[in-house]
Amino acid sequence: MSAALREELIEEIKARVDIVDLISEYVPLKRRGQNYVGLCPFHTEKTPSFTVSPGKQLFYCFGCGVGGDAFTFLMKREGLSFTEALRRLAERAGISLDEKEGATVFGFRREKERLYQIGALAARFYHLILLRHPSAAKAREYLRYRRVSPEAVKVFELGYAPDSPRALVDYLRRHGFHPREIALAGLAASRAPEGSFDRFRRRLMFPVKDASGRVVGFGGRSLDNSEPKYLNTPETPLFRKGHHLYGLHLAAPGIRRQGRAVVVEGYLDAVSAWQHGIDNVVATLGTSLTAEQARELKRYTEEVVIAYDADAAGRAAALRVLEILAEMGLRVRVLPLPEGKDPDEFLQDHGGQAFRQLIEEAPPWLVYIIEETIRFHDLADPNECVKAVQKVIPYLAKIEDAVELDNYVRFLSRRTGQLESAIYEEIHKFRRREKRKPRRFIPTDNIQNTQRIADTTFQGPEIYLLYAYLADERWAKHIEASLGTDFWSLPEAGIIATTARELRQEYPCLEGEDFQDKLSRRLPPDALPLLARVMLKEGQEPLESKALEEAIKSIQLKKWEEEIRACRRSLGLAETAGREDEVKKLQARILDLARNIKNLKIGRGEN
Ligand code: CTP
Ligand code: MN
Repeated sequence: MSAALREELIEEIKARVDIVDLISEYVPLKRRGQNYVGLCPFHTEKTPSFTVSPGKQLFYCFGCGVGGDAFTFLMKREGLSFTEALRRLAERAGISLDEKEGATVFGFRREKERLYQIGALAARFYHLILLRHPSAAKAREYLRYRRVSPEAVKVFELGYAPDSPRALVDYLRRHGFHPREIALAGLAASRAPEGSFDRFRRRLMFPVKDASGRVVGFGGRSLDNSEPKYLNTPETPLFRKGHHLYGLHLAAPGIRRQGRAVVVEGYLDAVSAWQHGIDNVVATLGTSLTAEQARELKRYTEEVVIAYDADAAGRAAALRVLEILAEMGLRVRVLPLPEGKDPDEFLQDHGGQAFRQLIEEAPPWLVYIIEETIRFHDLADPNECVKAVQKVIPYLAKIEDAVELDNYVRFLSRRTGQLESAIYEEIHKFRRREKRKPRRFIPTDNIQNTQRIADTTFQGPEIYLLYAYLADERWAKHIEASLGTDFWSLPEAGIIATTARELRQEYPCLEGEDFQDKLSRRLPPDALPLLARVMLKEGQEPLESKALEEAIKSIQLKKWEEEIRACRRSLGLAETAGREDEVKKLQARILDLARNIKNLKIGRGEN
């Protein structure tokens, strides 16, 4: 059973099995306030301290400290393994674990099946309206103007959501779907069944399909400059923005065949590429590529070409994803679109052949990083030139392959006019400094068969903090008191910490293995590799408050340095705009931060 399926099953069981009913079969319970109490089955007592909360669906004994959920209770009381308890409770919940088909099929999967049916019907409905209905004339006109071909409209099943309060809701109800299901599918704008009306109106509809071509959600583009430009399906049991890739079901064969995937930002970029005969293009859904999407691509290919818009937003998004992709072991290149263009515009202007040529010529991501760094430095100024080189050194220092490194050093030398030997010298210096950093912050990667997680310089301390965070609630509190709750730079670390915090609130006495067990069951599968990695550190690395303080400081430093950079940028803008008050405030803040940073560095024995 996949982790996702298992999680789904557990949630469903929890929703259906009442813990009070379950425990009542073993222990006579009496109502007391909001809870039920009884004599603890796990230790001998004369007055009841064994408490069951119907609201929280948890039990806890104030006498002996045993506690947990329905699963824990059955496991402890009957001496079952988790899987055995799962079976028993599934049965109790009326969920059949049908093992005939190899993969397990559950009764509650029916709900999802219904959502898929709704998606398919809705896509069909919008599509037919677009093709035939008079009210879609403007949308058809727009598609002509954007030069989207009738074949593309058909293949991508583009549609139009009419300007009518409940055309789709009524259509789906006529097909036997309940307003609650329509709302769950994200297609109704209100969750109150009586008041429900269509979420999407007067929009060009892009159905988002999963890898097997089933509709999971929609993006709806406004045609009259009304905001938002795109309205997307909210998160539903089928739809998560950072998970799906638009066009993947069409592009998968092409990606496999060419050994390469091209990632664009816009739905229309993907449609346009397909129309121009480029058959390995997928689009993200309004976020930059997530690790989850990258892993999905990795199932098909080893090489990804990033083809984001050649504007500031597109470049920023590209910079965010490149290193992550590369560290996942993908070959990454960046498409050099002419300034200001997006893939669609380029294709319309120059055609598919020229685009293919661009793909072939796309430079490796490190060349892109070097060029992007250079853009912001005036190479005629020797100081600026040195700065630009310094910024690239950490990337180069990581290259292990000597030939590859030599290529990049030569390239950088050619671009900046700095001597190759000087660049090498800087690389060696950087590597020596890295080596001298306290060993304990360099995470050991001894997890086999799990996804490699990027180890940038910052993540060493972060991993250590996460380890401490999970090991002991007091440390967790200390960390949050020092850094707040949203400092994690690895998204998975943030998810793990948040989930751990919630767990601790819910189960105040959960510790050790029970805690880890519960945590791992509650986490989305994507976060599990990082959790496993952090957990496996245990026993190898003593937790000590001195090391913890060091890690906190290094994250603190990074936070302040980021803030000071942001302040400096705003300061420039505020000065240009002549906003005096803001200038003063920013200057004061920058001074504060600079002082903080300096003190912290002195405290650590730097400078
Ligand atoms: N997007 C979004 N919400 C918005 C704007 C954009 O979800 N308010 C997402 C959509 O997935 C969109 C992508 O970001 O496809 C890129 O946005 P943009 O470049 O503005 O739109 P395009 O799809 O390129 O559309 P067009 O070419 O018509 O401008
Ligand atoms: Mn665009």
